[in-house]
Amino acid sequence: MNEEIKNEIQKLKKEKDAVILAHYYVDGEVQEIADYVGDSYYLAEIATKVPESTIVFCGVSFMGESAKILNPKKRVVMADGHADCPMAHMVDVDKIREVRKEYPDVSVVCYVNSTAEIKAESDVCVTSSNALKIVKNLPNKDIFFIPDENLGRFVASQLPEKHFIFNDGFCHVHKSIHKEELQKAKEAHPEALVLTHPECTGDILELSDFIGSTSQIIDYATKSENNTFIICTEMGVFYELHQKNPEKKFYSVGHRQFCPNMKMVRLEGVKEALETMQPEVNLDEEMRQKAALPLEKMLKLAA
Ligand code: 13P
Ligand code: SF4
Repeated sequence: MNEEIKNEIQKLKKEKDAVILAHYYVDGEVQEIADYVGDSYYLAEIATKVPESTIVFCGVSFMGESAKILNPKKRVVMADGHADCPMAHMVDVDKIREVRKEYPDVSVVCYVNSTAEIKAESDVCVTSSNALKIVKNLPNKDIFFIPDENLGRFVASQLPEKHFIFNDGFCHVHKSIHKEELQKAKEAHPEALVLTHPECTGDILELSDFIGSTSQIIDYATKSENNTFIICTEMGVFYELHQKNPEKKFYSVGHRQFCPNMKMVRLEGVKEALETMQPEVNLDEEMRQKAALPLEKMLKLAA
């Protein structure tokens, strides 16, 4: 059954001049049929380089929006139109405007896990792989970091020369990884290194050996001489971790490392998106142009 769908997807992709991009959190079987799989930064960047006229996005809506913002001439279709990241909605335009009034020299630093509307009000975008580098090199002392408080605090802890204003957004998946459970996992696997995404809370980061984006976690585990790891991020990364390191052992912490939105993306949805070219990402052109500025700035500053 799956083989049949996979073959149809390959056929449709050629017929429709489409390329499939997928995030590491979608199911392994979807990652398997994708042309490019990566973290949010890689996916935003590769979307600007692929020659195909249509991008089928296997991820949540902010990822498809970023691809469209950066490539207005391409058609961007979501493999699932309901897959959305709750954190992307955890700040509003009024709050940004209030902070700008209070701190006229502030730089509004917007994690890509945000809506196009929020990006359009921001100065620069960042992802978990480049936030530290980009914020460090900004000339502004005042930084309003939106929407994720945990990533903001992780960056701030390494830049004491800056003044940060935080927003109270969070990822429910990473927040559900608890210190007591991590301690138990460490006791059960004392030889393991703990690899963690910076959306986790500070007490988890403190117990970690490495903190990075999904791609950086996979790279670290692959290059490490260690053979055992505890992974503090969404379960989807286990697919690539096992693909690249069949002999190594990877453990999760508890059973809640599961993003229900990313898991909405299914092979059937990819096939349907290729057949119907729906749901297509469409944005108001004025907003798109405004949102493109901080995203383009990110691509320039992260390079
Ligand atoms: P990455 O950019 O590390 O892939 O993270 C995206 C994300 O949604 C984390 O929850
Ligand atoms: Fe959003 Fe968290 Fe899911 Fe990432 S894991 S897409 S931040 S809800």
